[in-house]
Amino acid sequence: MIYEATSHRGAICARVLATLPQWFGIPESNEAYRRDVESMPMFVAREEADEVGFIALKRQTPFAMEIHVLGVQPSRHRQGIGRALVQRARSYSVGVGARFLTVKTRSPSRPDQNYLRTLAFYEAVGFVPIEEFPLLWDAENPALMMLMVL
Ligand SMILES: CC(C)(COP(=O)(O)OP(=O)(O)OC[C@H]1O[C@@H](n2cnc3c(N)ncnc32)[C@H](O)[C@@H]1OP(=O)(O)O)[C@@H](O)C(=O)NCCC(=O)NCCS
Repeated sequence: MIYEATSHRGAICARVLATLPQWFGIPESNEAYRRDVESMPMFVAREEADEVGFIALKRQTPFAMEIHVLGVQPSRHRQGIGRALVQRARSYSVGVGARFLTVKTRSPSRPDQNYLRTLAFYEAVGFVPIEEFPLLWDAENPALMMLMVL
């Protein structure tokens, strides 16, 4: 079941990111995500009493919504939860008048096993690569912008 979270967004984000150290291993970044999501549209996947994944969105322009952060607990990977969260983000974005959904992830020009799986996920759910930004984050982490037309 996926619901829109309107309270405890930071705490839910922090709990899920703590299970994903290979992707979210920098404490200061995780803290920034925890703060950021408090004021963002956020959708949570819950199974029984457990919050197993979430997606938080940022309105970049009147036309474009961005996935700010997305995570699913590793024990629940490959069960369709990420796809369902993106689907919910799509319908929310269409509902508020956006025409594009974007996301930035690590570029395969500097391959990392974990982020190659993330890239495979984004491609599988319909994103296409648009542009690389080699120094947006830092030279070790080139950013790839991906886009989906809504
Ligand atoms: C990326 C992530 C959210 C995907 O969530 P998920 O619930 O495991 O994904 P789904 O089960 O919905 O997968 C949908 C499709 O994506 C593709 N996919 C997902 N994980 C994949 C992997 N590890 N390798 C190859 N393809 C993959 C598959 O085509 C999959 O469909 P299938 O299982 O029917 O073959 C999850 O792996 C995650 O939390 N990763 C760590 C954090 C992260 O990368 N966040 C996003 C960047 S900040």
